[in-house]
Amino acid sequence: MSKHYNNIVVLTGAGISAESGLATFRSSNGLWNNHRVEDVATIDAFERNPEYVHAFYNDMKPELLKAKPNPAHLALAELEHKYDGKVTVVTQNVDTLHEKAGSEKVLHIHGQINQAVCLNCGRVLETWDDVDTQTVCPHCKIAGMMKPNIVFFGESLLCMDEVEKLLRTCDLFVSIGTSGVVYPAAGFVQTAKYFGADTIEFNLETTSNNYLFDKHIFGKSSQTVPEFAAELLKTKNEA
Ligand code: OAD
Repeated sequence: MSKHYNNIVVLTGAGISAESGLATFRSSNGLWNNHRVEDVATIDAFERNPEYVHAFYNDMKPELLKAKPNPAHLALAELEHKYDGKVTVVTQNVDTLHEKAGSEKVLHIHGQINQAVCLNCGRVLETWDDVDTQTVCPHCKIAGMMKPNIVFFGESLLCMDEVEKLLRTCDLFVSIGTSGVVYPAAGFVQTAKYFGADTIEFNLETTSNNYLFDKHIFGKSSQTVPEFAAELLKTKNEA
C-alpha cells in the first residue's frame, strides 16, 4: 500500500490533456500549430504585432472550450475532494480541463486561455469570446490594452508566491505529462525534493530531469493517474 501524505502538489503539463485530444507542445503537430514561438509566445511578439497574437489565441479557444477532461483530470479532482490531506494542482496548461473535471485548488502558472489581462489596470477579464486590440476593459473602461492572460517567454509566472510556499511544505510532489524543459516549472521538483518531499514522475517516456524523481511511472496518464489516486485514497492518516 502507498504511504499517506498530508500535502500533495501535482504539477501538470500538456501530456495530461493529450488524451482529451489536445496536442502537446513538443510533438510534431504541437500546440503552436506550426507557428514560430517567437511570433506568438513572446512579449516582444505581442508588442510588435498584437493583432496577430490575439488572433492566434482566439483561434485556439473553440477547441479548448470543447475539450473534455479525461480520467486523469477526473482522478485528480476526486483525490482533492476525498483525500484526507491537501491536494493542489499547479498546472502549466492554459486549458481549463482541471476545473471542468471538478478540481478547485488549481494554480495556473502559465495563465488561462479564457482570460485576458488589462495592461492599464491589471485586472482580469474572463471570457471565451474573442479579445482583440479594440476590446474595452470592463473594469477601467480603457480600450486596446488587453493582453491574453498567457505567460509569454520573457514574463514572470503567475501565483509564484503561493507555489513557492507549497513546494517548501509539500510531502509529495507529483509531475504528470511535462517534458521538464521549460523553467522555472521544470525546477519545482528540485525545490520540493530539497525541502524533503517524495517525488514521482508520470510520463510516457524518460524526461530530461528524470534523475530528480524518486520514482517513475510510465504509461498513459489516463490509466496510470487513476490507479495511483485510487491507491492514495486507500491510505490512512495515522497522525
Ligand atoms: P511538452 O509538449 O513539452 O511535453 C509534454 C510531455 O507529456 C512529454 O514529456 C510527453 O512524453 C508527455 N505525454 C504525452 N502524452 C502523454 C500521456 N498520455 N500521458 C503521460 N504523458 C504524456 O509540454 P509541457 O511540458 O507542458 O508554456 O510544456 C511546458 C510549457 O512549454 C508549456 O506550458 C508552454 C510551453 O512553453 C507556455 O505556454 C507559457
